[in-house]
Amino acid sequence: MIIDETIRVGRATLTRGAQAARGIRSPPTPADLEDHMHDPAGAELHPDTLAIVTGRPPHTPDQPMSIPVHLTSTYVAGGELEYGRYGNPNWTAFEDTLGALEGGRCVAFASGMAAIAAVLDLVAPGGTVVAPRHSYTGTVGQLQELESKGRARAVFVDITDTAAVADACADAAMVWFESPTNPALEVADIPAIVRAAHEHGALVVVDNTFATPLLQRPLEHGADLVVHSATKYISGHSDVLMGAVVAASAAHAAAIVRHRSLYGAIPAPLETFLALRGLRTLPVRLERAQANARELVRRLADHPALEEVRYPGFGAIVSIVVRGGAEPADALVQRTALWVHATSLGGVESTFERRRRWPAEQPTIPEGLVRLSVGLEHVDDLHRDLAGALDSLGSPGSPGSLD
Ligand SMILES: Cc1ncc(COP(=O)(O)O)c(C=O)c1O
Repeated sequence: MIIDETIRVGRATLTRGAQAARGIRSPPTPADLEDHMHDPAGAELHPDTLAIVTGRPPHTPDQPMSIPVHLTSTYVAGGELEYGRYGNPNWTAFEDTLGALEGGRCVAFASGMAAIAAVLDLVAPGGTVVAPRHSYTGTVGQLQELESKGRARAVFVDITDTAAVADACADAAMVWFESPTNPALEVADIPAIVRAAHEHGALVVVDNTFATPLLQRPLEHGADLVVHSATKYISGHSDVLMGAVVAASAAHAAAIVRHRSLYGAIPAPLETFLALRGLRTLPVRLERAQANARELVRRLADHPALEEVRYPGFGAIVSIVVRGGAEPADALVQRTALWVHATSLGGVESTFERRRRWPAEQPTIPEGLVRLSVGLEHVDDLHRDLAGALDSLGSPGSPGSLD
């Protein structure tokens, strides 16, 4: 057993009502979620519709269309909220919406890293966490930090090698993975890993930042928790940092809420409002970005300056490996007009970066790998800009070549 089923604050065990009185908001119950999953006639709503209609004020005269930004640190006592570290109506609206899309109970955090820290804290002291060797560098960093303090053990695996992952599950408390991985874009067999992990009593956590709940819903495959850097596709406009955890069970959601309430990695109300505004348009943004990505992959597949074009077949992240390694790849990211040389991803604007410029990036990631976050600009413009920069590198061995 990894977490307490009960909610403890100090030495007291609180009932749901008492939690509310102490300002620790209970995660929504399945019945609460059901309200959002169906229209009044009982039909299940399409995710595109859920993204629009969930987390709104009721349709009664003079209600605003969106929950306004609630800038307050404290509330009049006696209700559900009490204090701004325990609850905020903007969190609730955002959490109900992302929770409905993922099919679980959502808890918003100040950043993806804060969400990851809260989830890793579910592991009992000394427990083992299995994770992909090509996870996001920050996730690897947290695992290494926990290991260096003797708090947990980290075992890094090739997440595409399902048999090796299953073997590693034997003494694991948690199996954590991204799919696709950042930036290698490897895809995991989620149902098979869930089966192997659950056979050994390990929790399964999927960082769903790249796929979003529109392309992949890990909880439907039996995962216990989903994590998001909501900074990326969920917010979608490169103007917000936020994170989220979505839990399949009320007990895990309560443990995550408790962590946020006690340690305080809370999202700001304005950021949460903006993240929800972004989430409303995720279906249309992703559709366009994915179409652009697919078309760019098709057009760049045989470019002579590229050793490899990696694309998992869905989503809008593409990794290209430039022939000749770091030097031509560094030159490439300086030679475009539209593509912005920047880290992060998932915004409406196209960005790219050579990942090995970060010392923390894994040595198994090629030096010349440039991760593209394909945005919503017209694909002809994106292609002309990028192909022009690639052409300017010349083919290896040619006079203009940096090779
Ligand atoms: C896959 C993935 N997970 C988590 C994070 C961390 O999120 P944040 O930067 O919002 O803390 C990132 C950040 O790049 C990421 O790419």
